[in-house]
Amino acid sequence: RIPIILDGDPGHDDAIAWVLANASPVLDIRAVTSCCGNQTIEKTTYNALRICTLINLHVPTAKGRVRPLIAEPIIAPTVHGESGLDGPELPEPDFDVVDMDAVTLMAKIIQESDEPITIVPTGPLTNVAALLLAHPELKENIKQISLMGGGVQYGNWTPAAEFNILVDPEAADVVFKSGIPIIMAGLDVTEKAMIFPEDFERIRALGNHVAIIVAEWLEFFYQFHRTLGYEGAPVHDAVAVAALIKPGIMESKDLYVEVETTGDFCKGATVADFDHVLDVVPNAKVLMGIDRQAFVDLLVEAISVYGEV
Ligand code: BDR
Ligand code: CA
Repeated sequence: RIPIILDGDPGHDDAIAWVLANASPVLDIRAVTSCCGNQTIEKTTYNALRICTLINLHVPTAKGRVRPLIAEPIIAPTVHGESGLDGPELPEPDFDVVDMDAVTLMAKIIQESDEPITIVPTGPLTNVAALLLAHPELKENIKQISLMGGGVQYGNWTPAAEFNILVDPEAADVVFKSGIPIIMAGLDVTEKAMIFPEDFERIRALGNHVAIIVAEWLEFFYQFHRTLGYEGAPVHDAVAVAALIKPGIMESKDLYVEVETTGDFCKGATVADFDHVLDVVPNAKVLMGIDRQAFVDLLVEAISVYGEV
């Protein structure tokens, strides 16, 4: 099993990513950490605890950094609501965060593991960058970083930048320059990982308590995207998890990617050297395509597991 740390800002698609990871026999979740992004750190941490309670995932869970490394915070209530996870009612947390911050917990898990850890960030990269800056010696014990962020063709929060990278571009820059192998699930692939209303019904029909909540999260997420002309809900963050479980359903390109940290129009852009203009080796496996039906089937199969417990 692949030992992983989940770091996210839940968030509807973060929540679905965690539901998928927790159900997978291929993944071994060693810790969960919250980051600020979709909402404030207080709200995303509370949501993390509520999600973990819902799916019975009781691993060490820690609260992340209060704000990005340098940039001013940006939140996304228009997409995820005031709570960061609006929609169905969720159980109150039945456990609490550990007595250390996210960076300390990540460092401890990585230090104590006998095999290299994979980090799965599905929010801004603040915690991960802070970890790498504080503990560069741990890099060799990090196998890879499978992240949702960026896009090598376009953005979603500005024309050039995707939300997670825009919120903390300096952190993203640290991560992309770290030398750790990166799987980049950016908008190029995640907007193809579309879940349509008929798929929501397939999930709802599974009938277990997690399935019903996931169907409602998808419905909530879709209602926002619908106003932008989408025909379904793009569950971005779940792709960073699916890439570990079923890499065979993805198409990818190995590319050198840099993060634009300044600029009037392109701050937060992930710029990929498609034409090998720079004489450098690729630093990221950039996911470009996905077998949508296989992805939906994977999700449905994962959610059905919650009916067995
Ligand atoms: C990303 O931004 C957030 O709103 C989602 O949770 C996802 O991680 C998509 O741009
Ligand atoms: Ca997210």
